[in-house]
Amino acid sequence: MATQNWFSRIREGAAASVNGAGSVLAWIGRAVARLVRRVIDFLWGIPQWTVGHAFKVLLLLVLAAAVLVAGALYFVTYYPSTQVADNAPATNIVYLDQGWGPTASSKYRQQYYYTPQGTSVASLRYSWFIHLQQVRTSDLFVDPGHMRAFGFLVDNTKTEMNPDQLPVGFTKHYDPVKREDLLDITCAACHTGELHYTGKDGQRVAIRIDGGAAMHAFTAMKLGHFGPTLLAAMARTYLNPWRWHKFARAVLGDEHYESGNGTLRLEFGKVLWALLRQGYFDRAHKLYPVEEGFGRTDAVGRISNTVFGGEVDEANYRVANAPVSFPAVWDIWKFDWVQYTASVAQPLARNLGESLGVGAAVPLHDLYGRPLPPKEWFQGATLIENLAWIEENLQRLQPPKWPEEILGKIDQQKATAGKELYAKHCKGCHEPCEATAEERAVQMPLKKPDEPLWHIKMLPVDDIGTDPQAALNFVNTRISLAKTGITDEDAREWLREIYTERLNRQIAYRKAHPSNTPPRYTESEMLKALDGIDVNSLSIGAGLNIIGIPLRRQFYKQFEYIKDVEQRRRLLMEYDGFGALDTPQVLLVYKARPLAGVWATAPYLHNGSVPTLYDMLSPADERPKKFFISRMEFDPEKVGLVGQPPASKGFWFDTSIAGNRNIGHEFRAGYGGWTPGAPPSHGLIGPELTKDQRWALIEYLKVHVDEKVAACTAYGSPEY
Ligand code: HEC
Ligand code: HEC
Repeated sequence: MATQNWFSRIREGAAASVNGAGSVLAWIGRAVARLVRRVIDFLWGIPQWTVGHAFKVLLLLVLAAAVLVAGALYFVTYYPSTQVADNAPATNIVYLDQGWGPTASSKYRQQYYYTPQGTSVASLRYSWFIHLQQVRTSDLFVDPGHMRAFGFLVDNTKTEMNPDQLPVGFTKHYDPVKREDLLDITCAACHTGELHYTGKDGQRVAIRIDGGAAMHAFTAMKLGHFGPTLLAAMARTYLNPWRWHKFARAVLGDEHYESGNGTLRLEFGKVLWALLRQGYFDRAHKLYPVEEGFGRTDAVGRISNTVFGGEVDEANYRVANAPVSFPAVWDIWKFDWVQYTASVAQPLARNLGESLGVGAAVPLHDLYGRPLPPKEWFQGATLIENLAWIEENLQRLQPPKWPEEILGKIDQQKATAGKELYAKHCKGCHEPCEATAEERAVQMPLKKPDEPLWHIKMLPVDDIGTDPQAALNFVNTRISLAKTGITDEDAREWLREIYTERLNRQIAYRKAHPSNTPPRYTESEMLKALDGIDVNSLSIGAGLNIIGIPLRRQFYKQFEYIKDVEQRRRLLMEYDGFGALDTPQVLLVYKARPLAGVWATAPYLHNGSVPTLYDMLSPADERPKKFFISRMEFDPEKVGLVGQPPASKGFWFDTSIAGNRNIGHEFRAGYGGWTPGAPPSHGLIGPELTKDQRWALIEYLKVHVDEKVAACTAYGSPEY
């Protein structure tokens, strides 16, 4: 409501000024003429000046400069708020039951949305965030309408876990050093989606997709997004004494205002400065040249810059020019490899890397910039505890089911035809297969027989032919850990333990189940891998892997009280995620994710460059070259984002920019077929589909599930 008010006020203001434009111009003309006359008189008079004169002029000049600076600051802090996209919020929210219950307040949903993961952005305090005002009104920054305008999802009610009605994924954790609650951005902020749909009856509905793709640009520093608008509001509050007074009273309460105001100002200033400096640094070094728009971030590049550039060594900053879509996270606990480039196998390692990237409180150096010994890295225990908990909750999450009552009935006949087409053209890559007993024993030994371990297929980037930038960056970027004080020998010793464990598991399995096939892992391969370690030149994956080991060890120290070694071992394996080992891989591939629920995750491909399923199934030159994204407006026919600009501000997704390309994964004329050993080349992966075939496949994808998967035929990857 509040949002609408200020939009209409601005609009009225603008209209009034257009009407009066003629007389305003005349007024400005007269004023300029007067000013010129004054300046000439003034210059003429200078030779006759006394000291008093000069002083007066100096004072005037200082005053004028102050007014100019104040005006500039006013403008700089005002302007960003004018760039936020208009917003017609959908407040009629429907929660699909994906295993977490049917209402906003269902327990598991609440826990996923608001369990903190121990991260903070520059130590921004929770209490500051909830009391900050918007720049243009006295409404709070966290007003649901305002937060929705950035693309965040806000439930309609306050709950015990979310007492301030913040967006999904915005929560807090207590920081024992600062002795305050910090704002904590958790998994749900990036891994929850919503589809906005206006039905034939004119009713606008927001269909919440738990574990789906977010559509904000949380990390973008482009005007109109969350980051710059927040900074402007903070700066305004800091600079404007009246605002500050009100803010400080709200944060501290009347009782503590006098005693706390000075400290509050100091701390607030520090955080503001840190954020401004980071924003400036990113821009000055052009670290993120490809605009994220809505629904994307260069996760790997940003994590690398935050951890290896910000924490370890400025020389590690690298340009990150391959933003990726926020992926869906249902079923991921069944995958053998996650991340677009299939680079991480252990759930804990993945989450730890991510939380370090978003800003977990793990200082790697002291106040003077000296490296801290790894045993000092770990501060609080909440982090891993909560990560493990969130991971467990995700195991209950199911892919969303197409809600026929809102989005329309499934045409069963079409869907059946689509199923056949899927089996023929898609299944070979997208259908996961069940890992063998040996793979289970080696990779995730704690999985129970009824808990699936899916082998996810990986396609060499050259074969699938989609935009290669994200994969290239992951493979080619090299960073140095030298400044952490970690040596090659340290890293080798730590990794040897992990690789040896993997070998031992394999040996144990084969002892119990003799086999003629050559073993997957060998000692010589291990030694070669260890030999190759150079902490001065590591891939991002290897760097995160090595940093993660002492972090985990430090955390696991608290369990040393458990004297039974086997019992302790098992507990730690559970924290790792089914006993998975952190043995990252660095390959030039994209994984073909299983397609259950894919209907709810537009835009498509790892870089979000294809707005609908229909476009996915069309030849690349029929896909939109440029399309507009402002919100989660859903098109239930082509299944994905609606095609027309629905708002005045938003993001033009330009697929001609490297990193944004919508090429590859093509069904088009000229396809020559493939067999194992003769893979599809350069993204031509199937024959052109007729329009009817495309519609049939889309109908099927609305109901596709990946439940009963077959056993894998061959071991190893990449392969089809
Ligand atoms: C700031 C946004 C953000 C937050 C917060 C975040 N993620 Fe992610 N997550 C991403 C992005 C972006 C990717 C894709 C990265 C890639 O593969 O390049 C990703 C990838 C993943 C994947 C792999 C998915 C796949 O298909 O391979 C999983 C699993 C995952 N995240 C789980 C989590 C969990 C659990 C948390 C909380 C502990 C979390 N994420 C927090 C943005 C986020
Ligand atoms: C040769 C292997 C292969 C075949 C065949 C194939 N895909 Fe894919 N598919 C992939 C890979 C790999 C990706 C990931 C590419 C990327 O993100 O750059 C992908 C991505 C997708 C996506 C985007 C997923 C997302 O989360 O954005 C959709 C949708 C999709 N495929 C549908 C299909 C359909 C439908 C068919 C059959 C008509 C099909 N695919 C056939 C390998 C394949």
